[in-house]
Amino acid sequence: MVCFTICINKSFANELAPNRNKSGESTDHIQLKDRYDLFINGEFVPGVEGRYFDTINPSNEEKIAEVAEAGKADIDKAVSSARKAYDKTWSKMLPKERGKYIFRIARLLQESAREFSVIESMDGGKPIRESRDIDVPLSSAHFFYYAGWADKLEYAFPGRTANPLGVAGQIIPWNFPLLMAAWKLAPALATGNTLVLKPAETTPLTAMKLAEVIQEADLPPGVVNIVNGAGETGKFLVNHGDIDKIAFTGSTEVGKYIMKSVAGSGKKYTLELGGKAANIIFEDAAIDQAVEGIVNAIFFNQGHVCCAGSRLYVQEGVAEEVISKLQKRMESLIVGDPLDKNTDIGAINSKMQLNKIKKYVKLGKDEGGTIYQSSCPLPEKGYWFAPTIFTDVSQSNRIVQEEIFGPVLAIQTFRTVDEVILKANNSPYGLSGGLWTDKGSKIFKVTQDIRAGVIWANTFNKFDPASPFGGYKESGVGSEGGIEGLSGYVNLV
Ligand code: NAI
Ligand code: MG
Repeated sequence: MVCFTICINKSFANELAPNRNKSGESTDHIQLKDRYDLFINGEFVPGVEGRYFDTINPSNEEKIAEVAEAGKADIDKAVSSARKAYDKTWSKMLPKERGKYIFRIARLLQESAREFSVIESMDGGKPIRESRDIDVPLSSAHFFYYAGWADKLEYAFPGRTANPLGVAGQIIPWNFPLLMAAWKLAPALATGNTLVLKPAETTPLTAMKLAEVIQEADLPPGVVNIVNGAGETGKFLVNHGDIDKIAFTGSTEVGKYIMKSVAGSGKKYTLELGGKAANIIFEDAAIDQAVEGIVNAIFFNQGHVCCAGSRLYVQEGVAEEVISKLQKRMESLIVGDPLDKNTDIGAINSKMQLNKIKKYVKLGKDEGGTIYQSSCPLPEKGYWFAPTIFTDVSQSNRIVQEEIFGPVLAIQTFRTVDEVILKANNSPYGLSGGLWTDKGSKIFKVTQDIRAGVIWANTFNKFDPASPFGGYKESGVGSEGGIEGLSGYVNLV
């Protein structure tokens, strides 16, 4: 596999791409309605103002379904149903009973894994291979993991009593729609909170399917409420007087808005925001493996990944070899139909995001960077962007400092360990990082000195429900996953 991809030459890859066998995932087994209402108090109900918006498939720009938009009155209804469920049932229930419901959600998700994967890829543009092998299994793994904690909180916090906070407002982004819903719901439910979840406006569908799963799991009405809409809807939730906590994943800009809005209100918050991770290749690394690692770090999920390795630092002695192998590997990446099992890179999530990526690529050129783009053919309809790398950039360039959230990598070289640590830390963000080396001592040194929440050694973008995830600096406040993820939803006495 590695040998094939590295030896493949550009013209061969181009000939191959249009004629290759397509291997499309069937959509026969999925059930989608034309219209989705709000999920409040265990039922699907239209919004008070009766407004709907379309969700489209970014790979062909076709409308998939319309979705009710929640206004202020709907948020009031959702929060008051969550409050009632908290007071009357969920906070009173024996923890092991709560656990049973969460296990049930996990199992039902597993049973419908194929359907969830296809819908995730249709609504958001990510390759089916990723939604099938990563997003959906990790989502059910998250529910399984936190279901197990529900009746063991005294072991998570020895000597303390962990009381739920009450009602949580949860706002999630479009890059991992189902997985982010799982990250938010599972720990909140396990600790006895009820919640109102707001998915992102371009990817509401798997959350609505999750609402169906929650109905099927027979959760008491009002424990989970799911309301759709864009930023305005999110604001109503953030500023609602009767929520106890906001959990947010998304842009640093909105994270700052939330911090300001809840200041002085007594509401707790966790914020999982942007990133600009350094991925560091030392001369002693296994180079072919590192090249695969670079590809995974920046091109996974079209680069719509908060912890993406979007800044590459290569030690000078191997820079030429690494960059030329990377360019060859890029030529073999297949960009196209998200439902095709051969696809490596799917559609850009929205036109807005595509425009943002284009703006940064122009900026990179204007700043004097040397651009290299894969020559892969791009489909005519839909939102697409070819895998892109920039060399000849410097630390002060905007494409090195700012989050692009697309398949665009900025490459620099370095000589010494100290130099690369300085460069890696020269960022407003601190979410993740990675290094590739044969030396354990270097792993200890670099992982200790880089100010980031998660650092991978000789791998990248690996996730596990038991492992905490969260950032420093402008990357956020608090952690999700693991025991740390429980602590964001409890008052300890
Ligand atoms: P965003 O931060 O606006 O959206 C994330 C979520 O917040 C969505 O559900 C959105 O409806 C909601 N939201 C927006 N404004 C809000 C407000 N004032 N109050 C409450 N909720 C609000 O992100 P957007 O605009 O979709 O993407 C812009 C950039 O943000 C991306 O290009 C990327 O750089 C970054 N981003 C980072 C993510 C991450 O996981 N770190 C995820 C999504 C975006
Ligand atoms: Mg969509």
